[in-house]
Amino acid sequence: MPPERPGERPGERRNAARTSVVWDALRPTLDGAALDVLDIGGGTGGFAVRVAELGHRVTVVDPSPDALASLDRRAREAGVAVAGQQGELSTLLDVTGPASADVVLCHGVLEVVEDPGAALATLREVLRPGGTLSLLVGQRHAAVVARAMAGHFAQALSMLDQAPGGPTRDQGGRSGRRFTEDEVAALLAGAGFEVAAVHGIRVFADLVPGSLLDLEPGATGALVDLERAVSGRPEFRPLATQLHLLAR
Ligand SMILES: C[S@@+](CC[C@H](N)C(=O)[O-])C[C@H]1O[C@@H](n2cnc3c(N)ncnc32)[C@H](O)[C@@H]1O
Repeated sequence: MPPERPGERPGERRNAARTSVVWDALRPTLDGAALDVLDIGGGTGGFAVRVAELGHRVTVVDPSPDALASLDRRAREAGVAVAGQQGELSTLLDVTGPASADVVLCHGVLEVVEDPGAALATLREVLRPGGTLSLLVGQRHAAVVARAMAGHFAQALSMLDQAPGGPTRDQGGRSGRRFTEDEVAALLAGAGFEVAAVHGIRVFADLVPGSLLDLEPGATGALVDLERAVSGRPEFRPLATQLHLLAR
């Protein structure tokens, strides 16, 4: 888990509880010599800046100028350099060129691109041989349960068999396609990747009232321990809000 920082606000603590398992899975890849790391759709740099703090050369490519401005501020405050470039997945090779990254982070982006299979094929080309893809995607089973528990039964029903190449908006107008583990694995295999690890992310974190984490001493740490313990258990994976896959 990223270290807790002095003055960290409750929202940031909750965020740490949500990202700790992804961070744990990535650390062995990032511990060692400086690497070229590309964060596609890296947004405001929550991950990118922490990766740069480990000494890696990090580039964020994102279509949003506002996100890139926030990334710039975040990097300056942390005292690290992160290159921000405006761009998007479908034209990524024009920006980075082929075989330019040792590690590609693609977190929360496959949900919104037009063609997830083509996007993964592009990422395969951007990676150097032997490089690692860190892929984080929203999972459909958990989204169906969340819609049903909120009383949105028709939306839950419409999500049940949503195709991975389907629309990026659901019936309720929410942005973001969701995937099952089998669908992501098939998309990765189709793009020439081999899956090295799969973890369930946010099995409980989104179900816990925020006030509990803010008020109960030690609750965040205990939740992180629990998330770590269940993240690798296949029986809990369908409940996870997101799936994290490492692929080579
Ligand atoms: C849910 S946010 C995820 C941000 C960050 N990766 C994270 O995990 O916190 C999705 C990001 O993808 C970017 N995005 C949207 N469409 C994209 C595209 N076609 N190619 C690349 N990035 C895109 C958005 O601007 C946004 O920053």
